[in-house]
Amino acid sequence: MRVVGVRVEKLTNLMARLPKEGILHNMETGQYMRVILRVMGKGQMEEPLLWKGLSPFDYHDIGKILLPRELAYQDQLFSDAQRYTVMGHVDYGEQIFRQIWEEDSTAELFGKAGGNIALFHHECYDGSGYPDGRKEDEIPFLARVCAVANSFSVLRKGSGFSSPWSLEESLVALEKRSGTWFDPEIVSVFTEKTREALE
Ligand SMILES: [Fe+2]
Ligand SMILES: [Fe+2]
Repeated sequence: MRVVGVRVEKLTNLMARLPKEGILHNMETGQYMRVILRVMGKGQMEEPLLWKGLSPFDYHDIGKILLPRELAYQDQLFSDAQRYTVMGHVDYGEQIFRQIWEEDSTAELFGKAGGNIALFHHECYDGSGYPDGRKEDEIPFLARVCAVANSFSVLRKGSGFSSPWSLEESLVALEKRSGTWFDPEIVSVFTEKTREALE
């Protein structure tokens, strides 16, 4: 299935279809993923996944380009039907990455990693997430990293419902969901090293 009406040549062109705050959120989440991997001693994981200078870390919500614009980045309460529509962004994201590496085999590692991140970044460690309700190690590692980075980006930035949280408040919020939403090992290393760095 072709989900994008045009041949996918440049992921960055696709990203430009998102509103500015959406682009910033994707880039910021990618940066937090790098920080998390570095403090876990896994900073070398990114390099082999790069393709044409692009990192699969920077596009977790790329599937939102295929949502109705009024739903993609709105701080408003959604109806159930709207919520299900928004949840579709994880499948769209995976399909965009799949399309890229099916068209260009040199993008295979990039596309598979990006596809896993896009598809599974809303899975929860305890199995309560979507789209599959996977839990623990069933969720690809980079998607577990992205789940933490994604939430951290949202907490720090604030939304229509909440003002930006302080660094410490955001770390505490991650810790509260450690083991339920998030991989406890990722949360504990990230929060510990971040506090250490501030001292
Ligand atoms: Fe998302
Ligand atoms: Fe996100």
